[in-house]
Amino acid sequence: MVGRGNAYTNSRGMSDQDISKYKKNLAIRVSGFDVPRPVKTFKDYGFFAELMKAIAKQACEKPTLIQCQALPIVLSGIDVIGIAKTGSGKTASFVLPMIVHIMDQPELEKEKGPIGVVCAPTRELAHQIYLEAKKFTKAHGIRVSAVYGGMSKLDQFKELKA
Ligand SMILES: Nc1ncnc2c1ncn2[C@@H]1O[C@H](COP(=O)(O)OP(=O)(O)OP(=O)(O)O)[C@@H](O)[C@H]1O
Ligand SMILES: [Mg+2]
Repeated sequence: MVGRGNAYTNSRGMSDQDISKYKKNLAIRVSGFDVPRPVKTFKDYGFFAELMKAIAKQACEKPTLIQCQALPIVLSGIDVIGIAKTGSGKTASFVLPMIVHIMDQPELEKEKGPIGVVCAPTRELAHQIYLEAKKFTKAHGIRVSAVYGGMSKLDQFKELKA
């Protein structure tokens, strides 16, 4: 799923020692095999210009801890379970790679799609993810819609179809 998000050019340049010192400072604990290295800035991800603009517009100066480590993993197509404090930017850790992936797909034909689906366990969470995704997708012409129980099925159906 890498596409335009070639994530770790800079951190690859860091020695193993630098990396472990950096991780210690960040208080990140990671387990797994061949885990991609964390990055320090949004520039290190190699995101395309519109996405960098959308990130800057949200006043996101640098990646949060979970983003430093999780984004390179997700961008390389590896599955991840990420645990971090509330408000630590977990949503962007999967939404930004999702945008990279969506923008790499051919234009959707009529009645086709969606390309990306996020499942959330509650309506409130689904709505939060929807709002967060909209912040970053606006500039790309990507449509986001949230579908959950307790609302008009017809309206949501229309929204999803669009
Ligand atoms: N790198 C960043 N710099 C500054 N703000 C950021 C950054 N990344 C995300 N944010 C903002 O931080 C806020 C919280 O992010 P988010 O909702 O993803 O947190 P979360 O980790 O999912 O929290 P929760 O566990 O409560 O769901 C959002 O308003 C988001 O736009
Ligand atoms: Mg969240």
